[in-house]
Amino acid sequence: MAWQADADLAPLTTFAVPARAQWLCRIDQEDELPAALQQADDRDLTVTILGGGSNMLLHADVPGLVVRMQLAGIRHQADPADTDAVLVTVAAGENWHQLVEYCLRQGWYGLENLALIPGSVGAAPVQNIGAYGVELADTLVSIRYFDTQTVQVRELDRDECQFAYRDSIFKRTLKNTAIILSCTFRLSRTPRAVVTYPALLQYPGASADMSPQQVFDAVCAIRRSKLPDPAKLGNAGSFFRNPVISADACAALQQRWPDIPVFAITSATTSATTTSATAATTDVKIPAAWLIDQAGWKGVRRGAVGVHGQQALVLVNYGGGTGQQILDLATEIVSSVQHTFGVRLQPEVCIVPAPPGGL
Ligand code: EPU
Repeated sequence: MAWQADADLAPLTTFAVPARAQWLCRIDQEDELPAALQQADDRDLTVTILGGGSNMLLHADVPGLVVRMQLAGIRHQADPADTDAVLVTVAAGENWHQLVEYCLRQGWYGLENLALIPGSVGAAPVQNIGAYGVELADTLVSIRYFDTQTVQVRELDRDECQFAYRDSIFKRTLKNTAIILSCTFRLSRTPRAVVTYPALLQYPGASADMSPQQVFDAVCAIRRSKLPDPAKLGNAGSFFRNPVISADACAALQQRWPDIPVFAITSATTSATTTSATAATTDVKIPAAWLIDQAGWKGVRRGAVGVHGQQALVLVNYGGGTGQQILDLATEIVSSVQHTFGVRLQPEVCIVPAPPGGL
């Protein structure tokens, strides 16, 4: 396990912005991790964990050690509690979309709506990835992680992960101390399509009895039509989270902007449907894309960076842009949306190094 000095990180994140790591090491086997962390500790180096780099904005060089998790392997076993289910355990470095395709080919269903999400399996639980009416928490059973405080491998079941909309314990109390090693999912051998999300329902030929393959194909087509392919255009998907606000605050916004789309939050998970948001006691989710779009940002360019023309929630690097330029653009958008709607956008991507005072 060699360490590389002054390593180029641009090819390791999907924004493809220039940044260098003081040190980079790649972890291919679980037992290499404790030694790497110990060496970093001995040398007083901060540690930054990198998965697929698809949800990270690097706006400066990264001091210390960057650890790239490349653990590979997919195992499965019957679920003793449910003959219809299969338990699939996946190493952190596996590619998420390839996992979705693999499970579909095996006839293990439940991940189809999460097709084409860039990134690695180990990064997926951190922000509880979600799309088209399904989120990771719906099928996740448990997570094994390396605890850097106790220097032990530990396991959390689904409830202990404290999943919520784009949120988990790994962004909170375990932030910077847990390194995810593998995830176990419970998938179904019986096809069950989730066709609840508006954009999926509106897809030509969509129906409640679509096959998992049809859902997969539809999700891929929808994503390709509005989300830029990071291999061609640098981006990290949604740059901001959809704000969660009180129904009262939402009703006030609706007075002024009656067309604002509103999504109910049905549980700790995000399965959402359009709602009139009349209940005064519940929180609702409003689309950041709509706020940014209405504030006039869609398609706006600032030199080599800009706001995507098909999805206002996606910031892009047209080539040659820097992380600082993207951060500056994001900062302008936050101020503008705050000024227009009184709503403070929060980043969904992980900004490294963390900007002092936040975004
Ligand atoms: N909208 C606009 N302008 C736009 C784009 C969208 O007004 O430029 C409006 C749409 O009309 C729609 C609403 O915003 O009413 C929601 O749009 P969309 O269905 O495209 O979803 P989103 O809320 O923008 C979220 C996730 C995506 C996920 C999609 C589909 C977050 C932060 N983003 O986007 O996740 O693919 O739903 O489920 O929750 C990601 O996390 O990187 C990501 C791409």
